[in-house]
Amino acid sequence: MSKSLEEIRLETEERINRAESTESLDEIRVSVLGKKGSLTEIMKTMKNLPPEERPKFGQQMNLVRAHIEEKMGNRLKDIQAKVLAEKMKRETLDVTMPGRKMIRGHKHPNQIALEDLERVFIGMGYEVVEGPEVEFDRYNFELLNIPANHPAKDEQDTFYITKDILLRTQTSSVQARIMEKGELPIKIISPGRVFRADEVDATHSPSFHQVEGLVVGKNVTMADLKGTLDQFATNFFGPGTKTKLRPHHFPFTEPSAEVDVTCFKCGGKGCGVCKGSGWIEILGCGMVHPRVLEMCGIDPEIYSGFAFGIGLERVTLLKYEIDDMRLLYENDVRFLQQFR
Ligand code: DAH
Repeated sequence: MSKSLEEIRLETEERINRAESTESLDEIRVSVLGKKGSLTEIMKTMKNLPPEERPKFGQQMNLVRAHIEEKMGNRLKDIQAKVLAEKMKRETLDVTMPGRKMIRGHKHPNQIALEDLERVFIGMGYEVVEGPEVEFDRYNFELLNIPANHPAKDEQDTFYITKDILLRTQTSSVQARIMEKGELPIKIISPGRVFRADEVDATHSPSFHQVEGLVVGKNVTMADLKGTLDQFATNFFGPGTKTKLRPHHFPFTEPSAEVDVTCFKCGGKGCGVCKGSGWIEILGCGMVHPRVLEMCGIDPEIYSGFAFGIGLERVTLLKYEIDDMRLLYENDVRFLQQFR
């Protein structure tokens, strides 16, 4: 019997020495000292011994148990120290290491172009106002001299919400809203999103942005319009940029014009950007039609005005020499990061 005790002691000691984790130590504890452990099992056999042998056996039992417990305690301390040392090693922080670079957000090219453009006009004393994207037919068409049967209404394929409410097809809608208020003189630009039922391609999108301009006061002339546009062109595209007005038609201006600027790439000699012509179209403009002034409650005998509408994407594409408008909307970071 005492040999068996000795065997358990030796075997357990060996297992303890081999244990590498607190979990395996626990396993040993259960398998030796637990309710069904080998030592406990032997203790149960004590009652089979002759009474005079029992005290000695009991004594030996207790010695072995105390011995095993002590060994386990020591081994546990060793393991814990090792685990702690490893953890410390793993979690050391080298404060002298260079930091990880954070990628910061930045502005979208459209936004950069818009802010440049706003800066130019604010510098000329313009105020920036915004109008609603969901608009009444009245402001988008009617007050701009585009009646229900006007062909211009077909050209601008409109998203209608009800018969009278639509997604604005042009920021010109803000002109009518501002004039109707009747606070004169007026000198505003109005940037914003517009909508047309267009298929997406390199130069079209169902949603894009325009910047509207409107000046109304006494003695406002076409020369003021031309001077303003020259100022804009040189400030926005660079010194030396010239403008050219080509006759055109818009229902809300008379006379109307489209404006070309000398190609900022070749300076007017002709290149790929301007398709050889030396000129690039950037906006529509004109003198506010007397009928529009009248419909908005302004006396055209006393007041006159000019207006213009710039396609924001168009000038963004030109300024940054981007050849496909879809790039502005796809949010591919490889593209956008170039504008950091
Ligand atoms: N609203 C016009 C368009 O979307 C652009 C435009 C032309 C605006 C002439 C104007 C203007 O203010 O005078 O095509």
